[in-house]
Amino acid sequence: MAHIWPIGGGKGGSGKSFLTCALGRLLAGLGKKTLLIDLDLGAANLHTLLNIPYPAKSLSDFIRRKYPSLENIVLETPVPDLFLISGANDTLDIANLPYEQKIKTMRAIGKLNFDCILLDLGAGTSFNTLDFFLISQNGIFIATPEPTSIENVYRLIRSIYFRRIRQYFTASDFKALEEEAVQYFGNGAYAKPECIMQMVQRIYPETGIKLDNDFNNYKFKLILNQLHKQDDAGLGPQICKLIEKHLGLKIDFSGNIAYDEHVHDAICQRVSFLDRYPYTRTAGDLRELSKQIIYSAGDQLMINYS
Ligand SMILES: Nc1ncnc2c1ncn2[C@@H]1O[C@H](COP(=O)(O)OP(=O)(O)OP(=O)(O)O)[C@@H](O)[C@H]1O
Ligand SMILES: [Mg+2]
Repeated sequence: MAHIWPIGGGKGGSGKSFLTCALGRLLAGLGKKTLLIDLDLGAANLHTLLNIPYPAKSLSDFIRRKYPSLENIVLETPVPDLFLISGANDTLDIANLPYEQKIKTMRAIGKLNFDCILLDLGAGTSFNTLDFFLISQNGIFIATPEPTSIENVYRLIRSIYFRRIRQYFTASDFKALEEEAVQYFGNGAYAKPECIMQMVQRIYPETGIKLDNDFNNYKFKLILNQLHKQDDAGLGPQICKLIEKHLGLKIDFSGNIAYDEHVHDAICQRVSFLDRYPYTRTAGDLRELSKQIIYSAGDQLMINYS
């Protein structure tokens, strides 16, 4: 089974697509058969970052049943061992993917035969983004050190936590739970996942245990990107502490990626930043992160790793 890493960030421009491509290249460079899936529905970018301006097929072709399986729309990239499912030619309606199509796509992703699969997710907290993030226990969050970006990544993490709780209940049971929370904690409690979780533990203790298990098993990671010299390198662990304090959700801080203006040049020239500027601090940070990701995936991926 493939190791799947959804990459989400709450805010646009935090570097989700850049990180997806860079990690993909590094994992493929280690001989891992790696697939990137562009799930930024309606705003796909990966094909451009990989210099494939006119992809022959895209996710819409699977959704609209032009091809029966996801394998049929996998594209080769210029990088050996790196493959892409593009969103380039997606139809206008794909941004609002209906529930059944989303479930079908999620199941199909789970059956794909690759060593590593990276999902580039859209900004914001749409149900599509939350559900695709929850495909795997190994999600990666990315933010920049700016307060707006931190605010949005926190909101994303909270929404994912909320969504996981919601998945255990029918609409009517969940509504009743929200009403109980308001009665117990006061107005506004229905929007606070921490309060809803406490009500679950009181009213549905067995579900509370299952949810606790789920939350303990997640190996979510946080990466801070575009760090300038003056930024506080210790910010990431502080954010993780805050999340653990408020949601009880443990998130490992994986590291910082330095800001480098050459990233812009590489993207504009449609070349790989890692190949063109391998000796920069940013390239070093990315290599370090890719190692960590491989280690965290356990024995299976570490074989042959040096
Ligand atoms: N480490 C970095 N140093 C300098 N610039 C960076 C770095 N990472 C990303 N960028 C810049 O930030 C821009 C946005 O990155 P990217 O497109 O990956 O963000 P995104 O999170 O995918 O955004 P969206 O949600 O809009 O798809 C890039 O075009 C690039 O110029
Ligand atoms: Mg993007």
